[in-house]
Amino acid sequence: MYEGRHYINGEFSETDKDFSSLNPATDMEVGFFPVAQHDVVHEAVDAARCQFPNWRKMSRVNRADYFDKLAQLLKRDHERLVDAISLETGKNKNESHAEVIEALHMCQVAVASGRQSFGEVIASELSSKDAYVVRKPKGVVAVISPWNFPLAIGSFWCTAPAIVEGNCVVHKPSEYTPMVAQIAAELYHEAGFPPGVYNLIHGMGGTGKELVQDNHVDCILFTGSAAVGQEIRQHCATTWHKTCSCEMGSKSAVITFKDGNLSLAVDVSVASAFKLSGQRCVSSGRLIVQRDVFEEFKNRFLKKVENVKTGNVFEEENVLYGPIINSKQLKRVEYFNQLVRLDDDAKVLVDGGRLDRDGQFMSPFVYEVEWADKEYLKTEVFGPHVALIPFDTVDDAIRIYNDTDYGLALGVVTESFRTMRKCRDECNTGMLYLNGGSIAAESHLPFGGIKKSGNGWKSAVGTYKAVTEEIAVTTNYEEGALTWAQGMK
Ligand code: UN1
Repeated sequence: MYEGRHYINGEFSETDKDFSSLNPATDMEVGFFPVAQHDVVHEAVDAARCQFPNWRKMSRVNRADYFDKLAQLLKRDHERLVDAISLETGKNKNESHAEVIEALHMCQVAVASGRQSFGEVIASELSSKDAYVVRKPKGVVAVISPWNFPLAIGSFWCTAPAIVEGNCVVHKPSEYTPMVAQIAAELYHEAGFPPGVYNLIHGMGGTGKELVQDNHVDCILFTGSAAVGQEIRQHCATTWHKTCSCEMGSKSAVITFKDGNLSLAVDVSVASAFKLSGQRCVSSGRLIVQRDVFEEFKNRFLKKVENVKTGNVFEEENVLYGPIINSKQLKRVEYFNQLVRLDDDAKVLVDGGRLDRDGQFMSPFVYEVEWADKEYLKTEVFGPHVALIPFDTVDDAIRIYNDTDYGLALGVVTESFRTMRKCRDECNTGMLYLNGGSIAAESHLPFGGIKKSGNGWKSAVGTYKAVTEEIAVTTNYEEGALTWAQGMK
């Protein structure tokens, strides 16, 4: 049984049994964890705030070098991390493996970024002046991270850039995956970061709220539901100093055009729809297919779905995806499946339902429907729930893609460079994969969406900008005089 502890100011706290983390494949307890109440949250923020003036003064190269050590530890503990991720999330081992690699890549980006520019030289209009832009750390960064990528997103995508830039971090991971976050905290500790640079507190939404509202927090990096993201944005708007980066949900899609390679289209669609049980924020709940090839696509897709197997990744072979994370989420998936079943406009093609066994296993649910204004077509489900939607023209496909409140990821399968360009320019998305699916973002590219999916401040490599202020600096070299810009006298 894993013993949960907060990590504050370089020390692990006493343990407590306030809540348990479960393996969603068996509902067996993985570990127990304390909940950070008011005082503990403020202690962690204080630790970060006190270390900030020292940490920001350290050379950028030295700050980044800590991540070199951390990268080595990630390599050393690779298998242990894969198992821990699969245990707490139920994720297929290959996907857990990819997640550890994703975290490692962020570490490597962090190390390299220590020796790269953190600003830009720009000409002044006056020859007697130099001008440049420099990024400065914001201060205390609160990271609130989700369960679906418990290692990569919270502990690395958000945290590593924040720390390299000279901020100090307080991290509140999802209450569904606290063990993975704490194992990462142990690695931060072992890598020797000075006390207070990285702090971890456990808890539920109340702990997260307390952290967000702490007046000494300067920047919030949040990944999770749109509803909570909106609350955080609203809270920041009531202060003068807090900013936030919110990565929220989506109703992502793959669009297959008639000139596209159909076997590629089917493969990327299966992966985008079902990997991690459709519980990625970039999962494709919509497969938008040109009518000319719709039947052919459908037949090939359904053939592949026959072989899509869900199960316990520790006990069964060839499992594509594991369980739904918890019973609340399972009910949500069942609710949306039921909406489709009850709608005469939709034709259900695959409906294996919930598996009759322990754990929260849902079979694929696939249906065919014309695009329309329906709750299940426009709301993120976060499960193996997929619509096949026919369209006629390129403009129709773009209209359908854009016709939700979200805009996160999109795969487009076509051989036409004109169609690619039109989709690039007219689809409202944060990430576009031409001849790919909607998943598998890379750490050194900015990750994030628009509209209800994101507020413009990206994560992964985009975090560097979210955690810093850019200030414009000019230096006047005239002796005892100043020529004013814009011809002012
Ligand atoms: C998420 O979907 O919650 O793009 C993050 C991907 C991952 C990250 C996804 N590498 O599939």
